Amino acid sequence: MFFYALIGGYVLTSMILFKYPTLIHKKKKVKFMCHHISHRGGAGESYENTMCAFKRAVAIGTEMLELDCHLTRDGQVVVSHDHNLLRSTGRNMNISDLDYKDLPLLKRNLPIDFDPDMEFVGSEKEEERRFALLKEVFDTFPNLPINIDIKVNDDRLIARVSDLIKEYNREEYTVWGNFSDEITKKCYKANPNVNLLFSMQRVTLLIFLMYTGLLPFVPLKETHLEIFLPSIYLRRKGGPIPTFLPLEKLVVRSINLLLMRPCLFNHLQARGIHVYFWVLNKEDEFKEAFELGATGVMTDYPTKLKLFLQNGAF
Ligand SMILES: *[C@@H]1O[C@H](CO)[C@@H](O)[C@H](O)[C@H]1NC(C)=O
Ligand SMILES: *[C@@H]1O[C@H](CO)[C@@H](O)[C@H](O)[C@H]1NC(C)=O
Repeated sequence: MFFYALIGGYVLTSMILFKYPTLIHKKKKVKFMCHHISHRGGAGESYENTMCAFKRAVAIGTEMLELDCHLTRDGQVVVSHDHNLLRSTGRNMNISDLDYKDLPLLKRNLPIDFDPDMEFVGSEKEEERRFALLKEVFDTFPNLPINIDIKVNDDRLIARVSDLIKEYNREEYTVWGNFSDEITKKCYKANPNVNLLFSMQRVTLLIFLMYTGLLPFVPLKETHLEIFLPSIYLRRKGGPIPTFLPLEKLVVRSINLLLMRPCLFNHLQARGIHVYFWVLNKEDEFKEAFELGATGVMTDYPTKLKLFLQNGAF
């Protein structure tokens, strides 16, 4: 009898705290609220991760830039998705083997990772295809929220990015991390005041905690959950989602199906944690994400998302 009362008490407390988490947790105070996020600055409408893309996205009214970074041989933090430059420049070289000034230009016809079979082709102007430094981005957009994916598990890279964030006094306007728990832990250690992503491992833990009812009792250091809609898997051909084997794919898809719970997103948002979906490029996907309770959507097509949001569906 006592046992059942105990279980009943646990379930009830868990349910109440799931709905009203601020009864025991201080709500996180993220300084910004973004619905519109440009993935690599909008890889479908400009050359990805370039100053040109970032300026264009901001002109359209994007509320956050998503970008990736690496370290060059001369210790500069450069904005690039890939470490190896074959896909983006046609040259089989690694960023870490080159000085910043020797980086080649991006290819005229640049494939779009999240829009298979599509390429971005811009003007002939070389300036548009130049690799950007993270410093330039910070200089140009001092108060714009920026989401940084730390691409390699390199202590020097993390330290340099951390220094830049500090130097530009933008801890509150930066989110950083990676799928990898090791990288994300290092980021947190380098500077716990910067907004932090959930790593894949922490996402898995989140699911476990939710289905056991423990989640409302557990403190979370992360401020941003960034996940993908399982449906985007169907249009991927390998790439940014690390190349999974079929079994791993199944696991990842199951995780995502378990994750797609509006009640979870509501709970996290009540705790001040933002939920972003990546990388969505179609209207029905935008709709699906916002219906599930996304705070924001990352897209390669900033104009498309802007129109969607303007049309007032959400
Ligand atoms: C680039 O780096 C990877 C390891 O990160 C290495 O396997 C590869 O051989 C390097 N490529 C070149 C062209 O140096
Ligand atoms: C995270 O880091 C790994 C290398 O450790 C990289 O391959 C991957 O693209 C990064 N990004 C994400 C979103 O996980």
